Amino acid sequence: MNSTFSAELGVSHHIPILLEPITDFLVTGLKNLPPEAAPGIILDCTLGGGGHTARILEKMKSDTSLLKHCVLGVDQDPDAIARNRIKFKNEIDAKNLEIIHSSFSDAPKHINGRPIYGLMADLGISSDQIDSETRGFSFRFPAPLDMRMDTSRGIPLKEMLMVLSETEIADMIWKYGEDRFSRKIARKLVDLRSKNQLPENTSLLADAIASTFPPAMRHKRMHPATQSFQAFRIAVNEELKELETLISKVFPLVQVGGNIAILSFHSLEDRLVKSEFHQRELYDLPSRKAIQADDQEIEMNSRSRSAKLRLAIKK
Ligand SMILES: C[S@@+](CC[C@H](N)C(=O)[O-])C[C@H]1O[C@@H](n2cnc3c(N)ncnc32)[C@H](O)[C@@H]1O
Repeated sequence: MNSTFSAELGVSHHIPILLEPITDFLVTGLKNLPPEAAPGIILDCTLGGGGHTARILEKMKSDTSLLKHCVLGVDQDPDAIARNRIKFKNEIDAKNLEIIHSSFSDAPKHINGRPIYGLMADLGISSDQIDSETRGFSFRFPAPLDMRMDTSRGIPLKEMLMVLSETEIADMIWKYGEDRFSRKIARKLVDLRSKNQLPENTSLLADAIASTFPPAMRHKRMHPATQSFQAFRIAVNEELKELETLISKVFPLVQVGGNIAILSFHSLEDRLVKSEFHQRELYDLPSRKAIQADDQEIEMNSRSRSAKLRLAIKK
């Protein structure tokens, strides 16, 4: 579905993952505050389709004493912001929710001294982004080579592929996509570029990548371009740098006793979150192991298969 169209309707097709464990954890944190605690916020760093925020607000409404606090929802995707402004009009008017167009690394600018009692980030992209025919995250249909979550800034994929060297393209595909054909793929793309034939859209780019694979590997369950596309997306949106800044600049702003929930989808992200949370002097952990979706959730939403949830309480 075209993302602008769904933004107009205020409708998201994203299914929130591990909805109850995340929202229970954050709202329980609010319930455990002493009655005299100053009004504060739960920071949803990745508002997306608003699924987790909607459930947090539902739980806060069922105990009206919690409504002196509010949710601050941040997303760097202008379509997601537009969609959520429609979806949550009543909650915004009632001042239970504030929505900000920003990267989460810039979230500190929008806190205005309010205590942060809970923080969540559901990393990566939403179904609304991947299903959009205009944003360039998918090769299921011919979309422009863009992949920026924040279309108001940054460098689209096409421009990136025009300027990076063969080695830089190969390193990017290897580091963020762990594709063992990274060098062959980079060589192919640079060869096409030198003939002024760099693919114009995501489907053609995926075909060019697939052509570098041995024929027997081109028709496996996972499309040969999947890992390269993941790598391109991570690079275009500087996703690891964003997560590092979230950890180093925003986690320290969470109150002592505040709850942090991070849902990640690949090992590079999970490794960063795990090594931060495993510092015993900084965090208490409800569970040392990551929480994963059960079979029932995976059956209903295959995207939940690779999700890893880590919870921590600030010391
Ligand atoms: C997986 S979706 C979140 C889904 C949401 N939890 C829900 O239930 O609907 C991830 C969202 O985070 C946003 N996002 C990713 N990285 C971001 C960043 N660094 N700053 C702000 N938003 C970001 C994406 O634009 C996307 O809308």
